[in-house]
Amino acid sequence: MSRFLAAIESSCDETAVTLFDLRSYLDGADLQSCIRSELLATSARLHEAYGGVVPELAAREQALALAPLFKKALDDGGITAGDLAAVAATAGPGLNGSLLVGFSFAKGLAFGRGIPLYPVNHLEGHLASHELLPKTERLTPPYLALLVSGGHTEVIAIESNNKKRTLARTRDDAAGEAFDKSATLLGFPYPGGPLLSRAAKGGKRDRFELPIGVADDPKSFSFSGLKTAVLRTVQSLPSPMSEQDRIDLSASVESAIVRALCLKVMTFSNSFSGVFITGGVAANDFLRSELQAACSAKRIGFAAAPPKYCTDNATMIGAAALLTIARDRGGFDNWKPGAGLGPAVPGFEFSTRTAWPVE
Ligand code: KG4
Ligand code: ZN
Repeated sequence: MSRFLAAIESSCDETAVTLFDLRSYLDGADLQSCIRSELLATSARLHEAYGGVVPELAAREQALALAPLFKKALDDGGITAGDLAAVAATAGPGLNGSLLVGFSFAKGLAFGRGIPLYPVNHLEGHLASHELLPKTERLTPPYLALLVSGGHTEVIAIESNNKKRTLARTRDDAAGEAFDKSATLLGFPYPGGPLLSRAAKGGKRDRFELPIGVADDPKSFSFSGLKTAVLRTVQSLPSPMSEQDRIDLSASVESAIVRALCLKVMTFSNSFSGVFITGGVAANDFLRSELQAACSAKRIGFAAAPPKYCTDNATMIGAAALLTIARDRGGFDNWKPGAGLGPAVPGFEFSTRTAWPVE
């Protein structure tokens, strides 16, 4: 009996598949308990030599990886393609070649099996990782979401699952880019965010004074000035850089980025129940602890996406689709496949997009 949802993520250098028991979810089970298999492959190491993701390489790797990964996900869950009731895939924003690989695979699957296809906004996926927290840790709307990744830095008001408003976003680099570009200047291999963060743990956070871009504008972040300041600082230090200089500068960079994020998000905190952080940079321990401290000082809630769901994955994409599907509440037997998303016939009319807001 067809009862499973297949979710696919392929917006950047990850290729990921998660299978959910859709029937159990619609009949009231908690989201986490409905995961039947979960796989992720990444081509990150291939891009190291180029200092950033090479879109063509990423898409080629995804074209090679997706079908076998999908087959393995089915096998791991003891599921066959005939057991699938719906498919969800990231339709944007992201790298177009990468999106096309995952989304076209999903379209073919939906068409071949005669099941509905749910196109998912990648940002909605990051926001839906909130539902992957245990119930007791979830925030009650309205709450603030700080979405910080390699491509995005946004403060979003979550009024309800259907109603979201962007309150602030970056004017230039995303927080993850600021981490990665600073890390490159400090000599860490790409993507250096997590490496810089590890080095920062033993460093003096106040040794180098680094700027907080557009500090007086609550609606914008700006990290391009930080990059220039890091470059100037590196140039002013004896070369080759000593290990202590690298550690202290890493700590100062991390502090500057985290301070900018906390400062802006907390200016909106008054009318919200708490702050939820998600996206790759939300895996950063220092950001988690600083924001938690700021929230408890304000006596509001704090929640962070589970670390393994901070960076790109298919589980959050499936979670976003399930939230949409669940708007037709009333259990699996009352589910109207594809409702609200155009015809129930699998969608040749859906296309991928490189930019896509959440509103
Ligand atoms: O969400 P994600 O996997 O991909 C995008 O949608 O962009 O985020 C990846 C970004 C990279 O810039 C990476 O360096 C950053 O998240 N990142 C971190 C940490 N872990 C991942 N940045 C700082 N500290 C970390 N621990
Ligand atoms: Zn992402």
